[in-house]
Amino acid sequence: MNILLTGGAGFIGSHTIIELNKSGHDVVVVDNLVNSNPEALNRVAAIIGKQVPFIKADVRDREAMDRIFKQHKIDAVIHFAGLKAVGESVSMPLEYYENNMNSTFVLLDVMRKNGCKNIIFSSSATVYGDPAIIPITEECPKGHCTNPYGQTKSMLEEVLMDVQKADKEWNVVLLRYFNPIGAHPSGTMGENPNGIPNNLMPYITQTAIGIRKELGVFGNDYDTPDGTGVRDYIHVCDLAAGHVAALQAIERQCGLAIYNLGTGHGYSVLDVVKAFIKVNGVDVPYSIKPRRPGDIATCYCNPAKAKAELGWEAQYGIEEMCRDSWNWQKKNPKGYDA
Ligand code: NAD
Ligand code: UFG
Repeated sequence: MNILLTGGAGFIGSHTIIELNKSGHDVVVVDNLVNSNPEALNRVAAIIGKQVPFIKADVRDREAMDRIFKQHKIDAVIHFAGLKAVGESVSMPLEYYENNMNSTFVLLDVMRKNGCKNIIFSSSATVYGDPAIIPITEECPKGHCTNPYGQTKSMLEEVLMDVQKADKEWNVVLLRYFNPIGAHPSGTMGENPNGIPNNLMPYITQTAIGIRKELGVFGNDYDTPDGTGVRDYIHVCDLAAGHVAALQAIERQCGLAIYNLGTGHGYSVLDVVKAFIKVNGVDVPYSIKPRRPGDIATCYCNPAKAKAELGWEAQYGIEEMCRDSWNWQKKNPKGYDA
């Protein structure tokens, strides 16, 4: 298939190009580079042996999007584009709602006008709020999102479901990602956060390399085995492969389908820090800090539905995730800017 990746220059999108290419799919990327570096696409090219067509444009730009659909015969869209920093979304709610909602509205409208009604959407475990069931199945009711970023994911899921309900020609796959970490095993591609990282793994790797003095562990008084927050970390290459698997659902005209993409294993913050130190033989100084507002104690999934229906399951364990994250950081201390 010929797949349009919105936000395809970003962390998950760039890794997904490689998996799509492995499976014989063609890719077109549109990205406005607001949170990515075009160098990521050069690194992809070095791995897959060809440059993918890239259009620098904003998904909210209707004319630019229409041109893409007129110039390329697109069979399906994987919609990664969006702003994703939870903390920033609290201080810039309008920018988050405006970007994430309007880009999706424009995309869906341009898609239907051009007769392309197949979409995979990057959703998030955040839609479960403080989950009612652990491990989280897709049947778990959605919960209250404590930040505008999470609200956009939850609202966009509803929009996509309504679009599919109104017109059965649409195939909509909602992928609820758990916590993507790791990097391509080559060490040439990885996560490239701007400024001080919000997420655990880039904070760990930047501490290990000396950019940050120490990691703050946000709370050790949660109701978890060691008191620190538990999450379902998934290797970004496994997550990328999940998108290729999700195309099967589209190929068999799934209508609406929802999948959790996680490993099904919960690791605490201290589990991750200890695994990182052990696997890589480097120190990660840390100290316990107060809880971070909006955080929950435990979040991990039951990924059985994706295995049963898509034949997909995560292959990498926490050691490989720690190894590959460090390999990327070590080889690219300044990310793609080096
Ligand atoms: P990322 O920021 O690396 O990639 C998103 C890309 O979208 C960036 O390259 C950015 O430049 C682009 N973009 C943003 N707004 C755009 C617009 N209006 N027009 C064109 N391009 C635009 O993030 P990622 O980690 O690769 O995440 C991809 C998707 O997965 C996002 O929708 C994110 O919300 C979602 N997600 C991420 C995580 C995570 O922890 N990384 C977890 C759950 C869901
Ligand atoms: N943590 C620390 N110190 C840090 C950063 C994080 O102790 O410096 C802890 C957090 O308190 C949490 C765990 O590490 O217990 C994971 O935190 P992340 O910020 O890495 O990830 P979250 O689970 O908070 O959120 C991430 C994405 C969201 C997404 C969610 C579910 O940032 O966008 O996973 O997919 F919605």
